[in-house]
Amino acid sequence: MLTISNIRDNIVGIDRKVTLLDGSTKQYIFLDNAASTPSFAYARDKVNELLTWYSPVHRGAGIKSIISTRAYDESAKIIGNFVNANPDSDVVIFVSNATGGLNKIAHRMNYMPGDVVLTTQMEHHSNDLPWRSAPNLHYINIREDGILDVEDARRKIEKYSDNLKLVTITGASNVTGYVNPYHDIAEMAHEHGALFVLDAAQLAPHRAIDMKAGGDEKRKIDFLVMSGHKMYAPYGSGVLIGPRSFFERGDPDYVGGGTVKIVTYDEVHWNDPPEKDESGSPNVTGAVAFAASIKVLEEIGMDKVAEHEMLLTKYAWEKLSAIPEVQLLAPPDYANLDNRLGVIAFNVGGIPDGRVAAVLCYEGGIGVRTGCFCAHPYLKKLLKVTSEESQMMIKKILSGRWVNIPGAIRASFGVYNNFDDIDNFVDMIERIIEGDYIGEYELDESSGEYLPKGHDLNPEEYFMI
Ligand SMILES: Cc1ncc(COP(=O)(O)O)c(C=O)c1O
Repeated sequence: MLTISNIRDNIVGIDRKVTLLDGSTKQYIFLDNAASTPSFAYARDKVNELLTWYSPVHRGAGIKSIISTRAYDESAKIIGNFVNANPDSDVVIFVSNATGGLNKIAHRMNYMPGDVVLTTQMEHHSNDLPWRSAPNLHYINIREDGILDVEDARRKIEKYSDNLKLVTITGASNVTGYVNPYHDIAEMAHEHGALFVLDAAQLAPHRAIDMKAGGDEKRKIDFLVMSGHKMYAPYGSGVLIGPRSFFERGDPDYVGGGTVKIVTYDEVHWNDPPEKDESGSPNVTGAVAFAASIKVLEEIGMDKVAEHEMLLTKYAWEKLSAIPEVQLLAPPDYANLDNRLGVIAFNVGGIPDGRVAAVLCYEGGIGVRTGCFCAHPYLKKLLKVTSEESQMMIKKILSGRWVNIPGAIRASFGVYNNFDDIDNFVDMIERIIEGDYIGEYELDESSGEYLPKGHDLNPEEYFMI
């Protein structure tokens, strides 16, 4: 039985040690789970087991094919069930990741002139850029404190009501961890006849999601995307779930093998979804790994996952906010952890974010993320970057000079992180503030990375193909 207390033993690579700048070794601490998580051992083991039965799916004729096909189709059911998709009206389409899923919906929109899509100012680029091909794209504002402005959502949904086709928001921000009231926004969208998309890439690993909204049609989620690699299954699979009827019409974004029922030199008859939208040979191992990791999360219980991560977040938040030099990029109501994931972005009094991350890496054996987290517009708003500064920044980046680019450090927790990880991390932050580290860190202007002078880390000492 997997629980919060033993899940750490089920994390692949948790025991890996790295060599630090002073020559000592340390068990690596990973705090960039919002980007991608390590694998559950259960998912890896299921992949290894499947590989002994692996064979092409759907169109293969042998017994191994029958076994693999069954595993693939069953995986879709397990994943759909995890977010309470409607098996009668929804279809689960395997894609490579959340980005692939969002692009697929955008591709199928069949816009008419004047159509409007609404997204928000707090999106990951993956839930912003695919919609820029809409005839009109508008952004729901965020408030000063970074929280979604729900009143602005209401205003804009009403304002564009006549042409509003779709409203898309993230379930939770990958910068502040703030969880949006997405069922409320879905209800507003549906009242005005628009479709509602939930980018659940960030939310799904940490909170239970109910696409059916307890049977309340108005509040349901029409489309949802999520990525296996953010849910302890980094094997190249994500899903897009949405109304079967939506995917029955139109042409798929990628065409070729698997997408058709019959082809002549003159005619093409598309397959039914999901096959129509899963061009080429599908990633069976990725699908099975994703479903296996979902089974682990279900066994632990999403309520327990949320509870554990809230405790970690509160602990880290309290420790970090007690350090005067730390500026947290977070709304003031952070104490209300119901609407926050374990994602904490911050800066450390005047020390470039890249330098902090480099010391954490080379002297703390801790992995975090820095920069703008694929949410440039949102981060610039949170950091109050002026439009002149923004223009300067664009010029510098385009000329290949990554110098003084505004950014932040982000620590994000997974279900397996513990309080020791946070103590270790906060101790290192304190050491960095005190200047208690040995490396001399130099900025590589072409990449924006800080590297310790005279130290040449050789990744092949750890892993070689
Ligand atoms: C909120 C959000 N949406 C979408 C994505 C894109 O996910 P993927 O890289 O798996 O496509 C991310 C990745 O960080 C994210 O945080």
